[in-house]
Amino acid sequence: MDSKVVSGLFQTVPLSASELDFSGEPYSVSVLKVGYCLPQSDGTFRADGTITLIRGPKTILVDTGGPWDRDFLLKTLKERGVEPGDINLVVGTHGHSDHIGNLGLFTEAQIIVGYDISEGDTYRPSMLAHGHVYCVDQHTSVVPSPGHTGQDVSVQVKGTSVGTVLVAGDLFECCSDEDSWRNLSMNTAVQEVSRQEALRTSDVIIPGHGPPFRVIRQ
Ligand SMILES: [Fe+2]
Repeated sequence: MDSKVVSGLFQTVPLSASELDFSGEPYSVSVLKVGYCLPQSDGTFRADGTITLIRGPKTILVDTGGPWDRDFLLKTLKERGVEPGDINLVVGTHGHSDHIGNLGLFTEAQIIVGYDISEGDTYRPSMLAHGHVYCVDQHTSVVPSPGHTGQDVSVQVKGTSVGTVLVAGDLFECCSDEDSWRNLSMNTAVQEVSRQEALRTSDVIIPGHGPPFRVIRQ
């Protein structure tokens, strides 16, 4: 079976299942948990969001999984030598419970959920809602990528061993989501624009409910 997916001028190609760590200078990117979405026979579905750790001059966690991931997240961070207080920035790509279920572990961090930027109970003016990127530094930025909800963001990391990585939340469900993403989208036209921009600017995309995949431009 040909696993490539063609979307306009781009192809998306799955990486091998073990490719979850991407070294880089100054930032490396590690997928701590691969999200999933599994329809059940009774009409429900089991789902959890991808959790990603970005390490470099700042330590950034992108999505925290659901509340049931609490112990897993603490254990996995500890195995990597990271305590909750070491995290400088937590980004919730959007406000769904399987992505922001453990924000409460990171009370010391700056928190961005959708277009809201806060430290403790202090909220900063945000230009994300106006389509502007929030630069963490020259290598890493939070990018508005709406459509799945009204206020989605992705995190772009430049300079990794695989090029530019985009931690995309549910902008992409998985590598082969052409049959599924529209059913989960609040605004398909807006999301299509966000997806095309992501495909145009990323070498590897980490989706919200599947393993990372590579983007090949025609
Ligand atoms: Fe979602």
